[in-house]
Amino acid sequence: MIWNRKTRYTPYEQWPATKLPQLVAQARQSKWRMQHHIQPASGLLNDPNGFSYFDGQWHLFYQVFPFGPVHGLKSWQHVTSKNLVDWHDEGLAIRPDTPYDSHGAYTGTALPIDDQLFIMYTGNVRTADWQRESYQLGAWMDTDNHIKKLSRPLIAHAPAGYTSSFRDPDLIRTDHGYYVLIGAQTTAEIGAILVYFSKDLTTWTCQGELNVPADARGYMIECPNLVWIDQQPVLLFCPQGLSQATTPYQNIYPNMYLVADQLDLAQAQLTEPHALTQLDDGFDVYATQAINAPDGRALAVSWIGLPEIAYPTDRENWAHCLSLVKELTLKDGHLYQNPVAAVDDLRTTAHDLVFEQQRATVAALNGSFELLLTVPADKTVTVNIADQQESGQLQVTVDANHGQVMIDRRHTGNSFAEDYGQTRQVELTAHQTIKIRLIIDVSVFECYIDNGYSVMTGRFFLNDVPSRLKVQGDSKTVTGKVWEWRQSE
Ligand code: FRU
Repeated sequence: MIWNRKTRYTPYEQWPATKLPQLVAQARQSKWRMQHHIQPASGLLNDPNGFSYFDGQWHLFYQVFPFGPVHGLKSWQHVTSKNLVDWHDEGLAIRPDTPYDSHGAYTGTALPIDDQLFIMYTGNVRTADWQRESYQLGAWMDTDNHIKKLSRPLIAHAPAGYTSSFRDPDLIRTDHGYYVLIGAQTTAEIGAILVYFSKDLTTWTCQGELNVPADARGYMIECPNLVWIDQQPVLLFCPQGLSQATTPYQNIYPNMYLVADQLDLAQAQLTEPHALTQLDDGFDVYATQAINAPDGRALAVSWIGLPEIAYPTDRENWAHCLSLVKELTLKDGHLYQNPVAAVDDLRTTAHDLVFEQQRATVAALNGSFELLLTVPADKTVTVNIADQQESGQLQVTVDANHGQVMIDRRHTGNSFAEDYGQTRQVELTAHQTIKIRLIIDVSVFECYIDNGYSVMTGRFFLNDVPSRLKVQGDSKTVTGKVWEWRQSE
């Protein structure tokens, strides 16, 4: 398939009827399909959208282009869950089928209002001469999952002084009305977040630009997203082109967060924003969407994938996945991330680490499992995750002498994104115990360090299913356990 404007933006109904079943069958055969991470049946998945709790269940949508592993004509795909772990596919929810979203139903968010779910998203339009137009659109979903789009845009264009790179509305409910944060770019090509207010969800007025620190903006801000944790505002966003001098990062585009003391939405003012910090220290996290659940918990889900990077599954015509749902907490101004408690229910058989000499091996694993490991101060341990033949491996080094965790995907057998480095590292306090929870789900890892103080997430592609885990280190002091995970339902 040659991917050009024409093929990327071909209306879905113009594809031959046999195309999708073929692609779905091809993806299903992949050895890289995961058990418990949301992945597209075919084609490309990107940002999580509309994460919400509505009508007694969790709703999550994601950006999808079903016809290939490229960024083409995007829709919202809908999945639901009772427990945040087992997801049921509800099919395509928002299609690019109006003049306001003709070239993609782009990212947005949702809020339950009365007995419906209100959705706000960006309609992407390309004119005949391929100029971009961006509309902020609304839709209502009822308890039967029927979606009714509003016939007119809620916000028809960016204000003067901003380009048409204007997208990804994040809806916020307050006591006196609704706000929305929208990712934007000034005509001088500086990233921005615009704040709009509405009393009735119909008429929206621009309150101005949020005072994101000047060095935290890059040239475009995508996916701004606000959650409250212990009454403190936490702003998640993706400042494309961010200077490395502000916060170092290695991925093509970063997903960052800022904690502030206060946020006055009416004035678009953050008070005392703390240092800009990378949300995930691994290889592939982007476009994270976080919400406050009805019980107040801050829950987040990320796209595990990056724009403009080729992945090995591209040749199988599918790409990317979402992260597990993570609970966000704050301690001393630092954001902690951990998988939601229901993830523990995936555990089946436990294996203790039994060392012979300095090495413990757990073999015959089935692709999805986790390792809990405690490395005492001043010890170093390496963990290898390999296929049965050991033809490739993912390597995690926990160095509790220097206070470092390093993940190396150089020797997996199927390298990609080499230009952005094949290792990632987090720096912790030297000479202290380090604990990791390393989750492996076939071709994705999520490594939670020191109870979620840092997270390193990434894809890795072995030649076969991960089935051998090896821990090398000081057998007398290192403790750990491996849990197998059940197969998906
Ligand atoms: C981020 C993003 C969003 C946009 C969507 C389109 O990955 O570029 O800004 O709405 O993806 O799929």
